[in-house]
Amino acid sequence: MPATPTACRHLLSLFDLSPEEARTLLARGTELKAMRCRGEDYRPLRHCTLAMIFEKSSTRTRVSFEAGMAQFGGHAIFLSPRDTQLGRGEPIEDAARVISRMVDVVMIRTFDQETVECFAAHSRVPVINGLTNRLHPCQLLADMQTYFEHRGDIRGRRVAWIGDGNNMCQSYMEAARLLDFSLRIGCPAGFEPDAQLLSAGAGRFTVVHDPLEAARDADLIATDVWASMHQEGELENRLDLFSPFQVTDAVMAAAAPDALFMHCLPAHRGEEVAASVIDGPQSVVWDEAENRLHVQKALLEFLLVPGP
Ligand code: CP
Ligand code: NVA
Repeated sequence: MPATPTACRHLLSLFDLSPEEARTLLARGTELKAMRCRGEDYRPLRHCTLAMIFEKSSTRTRVSFEAGMAQFGGHAIFLSPRDTQLGRGEPIEDAARVISRMVDVVMIRTFDQETVECFAAHSRVPVINGLTNRLHPCQLLADMQTYFEHRGDIRGRRVAWIGDGNNMCQSYMEAARLLDFSLRIGCPAGFEPDAQLLSAGAGRFTVVHDPLEAARDADLIATDVWASMHQEGELENRLDLFSPFQVTDAVMAAAAPDALFMHCLPAHRGEEVAASVIDGPQSVVWDEAENRLHVQKALLEFLLVPGP
């Protein structure tokens, strides 16, 4: 009997996981990484198909999901609005009803969070948020797996977000509440994250407009582009406002001596991060990018493979 809409789990936001589930998933990501390293043949998703809907560009998200499905013995289909009816006005509800009768899981990268929510509400199969203007939960799973691998549990640690109060920042805010760490956000005035998200985590978040103050004693410094994909026309106007928020060696020096540096990528050296930082000894950005593969495989397994 096929599942009916709402009968299955989704990952539209990190809050779709309990703190225990999130920690289990991160550990499983590390385990799957070790299994791949040992060359173990593990194909729990034989005959399963992932539909990937991309309304924005991607390198990491596409390659990690597609490679992950192949490694699990399954298959992935890339769909873009340019060559599907989604780009010609077919309602998202109808697309969800149809696509979810044909595949086992769907990943969507789009603009509005409401689009992934609407798709999930009409889907018979799990739906994964591959980035919206509001959130980027899969990237946070990879960032957290990377932190745990390098430094152990992040509970009680201090994290600094430097730059735009964007989708990545807002997923860091969700991760802070889920995994119990504090988050200091250093952003230009007027570029704070969503006010409701801030008040929902009051006490856990501090917003400052000084990057050195944000970075002080932090265990992890994270940043992202100054203009996201839906804001590219705004970059020119943002450059002057954001230039004091570049993650430089001085910003890293204000953090704890063993602080890590993360960036979801793609990065712009000389804008949000100095080359000496992203290419320096505290940067773990390549592990972070690689962990997209492993933690999303853990996520696919969690959503699709019945537990013991
Ligand atoms: N970090 C990230 O999501 O990268 P892509 O845009 O390349 O998928
Ligand atoms: N904030 C960026 C993240 C890209 C992975 C964007 O939305 O474009």
